[in-house]
Amino acid sequence: MDIFEQIESQVRSYSRSFPTVFTTAKNARLVNREGRSYIDFLAGAGTLNYGHNNDLLKQPLIDYIQADGVTHGLDMFTDAKERFLKAFNNIVMQPRGMNYKVQFTGPTGTNAVEVALKIARKAKQRSGIVSFTNGYHGCTLGAQAVTGNKGQRGGAGVSLGDVTRIPYDGYGEEEDDFMGLKLLDQMLTDPGSGVETPAGVIVEAVQGEGGLNAARMDWLKELEALCRKHDMLLIVDDIQAGCGRTGTFFSFEPSGIKPDIVTLSKSLSGYGLPFAITLMRPELDQWEPGEHNGTFRGNNLAFVTARVALKEYWQDDKFANEIQQKAEILEQRFSVIIKRFGGEYSLKGRGMMRGISTPNGDIAEQICKEAFANGLIIETSGPWSEVVKCLCPLTIPVEDLNKGLDILEAAFAKVLPEAEAKKAS
Ligand SMILES: Cc1ncc(COP(=O)(O)O)c(C=O)c1O
Repeated sequence: MDIFEQIESQVRSYSRSFPTVFTTAKNARLVNREGRSYIDFLAGAGTLNYGHNNDLLKQPLIDYIQADGVTHGLDMFTDAKERFLKAFNNIVMQPRGMNYKVQFTGPTGTNAVEVALKIARKAKQRSGIVSFTNGYHGCTLGAQAVTGNKGQRGGAGVSLGDVTRIPYDGYGEEEDDFMGLKLLDQMLTDPGSGVETPAGVIVEAVQGEGGLNAARMDWLKELEALCRKHDMLLIVDDIQAGCGRTGTFFSFEPSGIKPDIVTLSKSLSGYGLPFAITLMRPELDQWEPGEHNGTFRGNNLAFVTARVALKEYWQDDKFANEIQQKAEILEQRFSVIIKRFGGEYSLKGRGMMRGISTPNGDIAEQICKEAFANGLIIETSGPWSEVVKCLCPLTIPVEDLNKGLDILEAAFAKVLPEAEAKKAS
């Protein structure tokens, strides 16, 4: 591994938690150079909802490449783009009564967020954005400004302005009864508050990097009402929680809210290929041609796999039901672990975006380290990295899911021997 140490930037992070060289991957398994097979509960931080090298997507991709289908075409019309747009419209938007324009942004999530913020500012001719405690939206400067994480904000090197931050649902110790939203309403109503009406509000329905905080559906509805009351655009960043992770294609679906702008990336391509889009209500599409540009907008290979993923998994309820069943296993097994180790541990998240909050980052890190030593790849999230976070592929076989959870439970027991001893006595 010398070459990594020698010339790869020290900014790398996941390779520090999982210091081995991986060679192959299939569904929920990653195999290293020594031939050891690991169960993957990280899944590209939510990018591999359909698993590694999904056969249903692989063959159409190979066929497309074999036929010399266009790989790069800037934002020119291609057959692959046309077919993706038709599938996205027919399978995702129309059945949900959604009417959005689709903007192909640069290929990563943060590009989609930059576009969302720019559109909101342009459409409303205002610069302010409201974002939430522990929100995570990416590492380019606009997205960084709406992100909460102190360590990452520190890397920006410039001031990160034009953002008002308010408490997310459940922030703080007390039962807050929409405390953050009430505060925002008050500040926007009070001419003496010093807060000017922002262009929009950006929110995750379940905060992925911020510690698997799941907003209540009522809270999301209240947020939508507040946006309407104060003429702010509602942006839902569904980059991590979308594409089925919480059980429905969009994470906000059960709340019935209708965001003005939605960002999608990560699992959208279905195959781990870089791909991001920003959806906007048609009247917000006020760009001049080329006003927001980029060389890699719309990845034709990703168009192919994304279309097939939609066709294979989202044409009916079968996959959603499968997610529901696995989510129940996760919830049940996590509840057992929590019961076993006492009141300081709690269940976080929603659907298959689940985790266990531990008393501190050290404990969570030790648990993940122990799990890795025993063949499970799992990471932490949260402001203190205190949440052990499971983002396994939604297509994980139940057997692998249970095996992974066995390893995780054993890791808890190994790291917390006193709690175990207490239980035994
Ligand atoms: C909710 C959310 N938004 C935006 C991003 C940024 O995506 P990317 O890392 O592809 O830039 C992430 C990445 O984790 C995310 O979870």
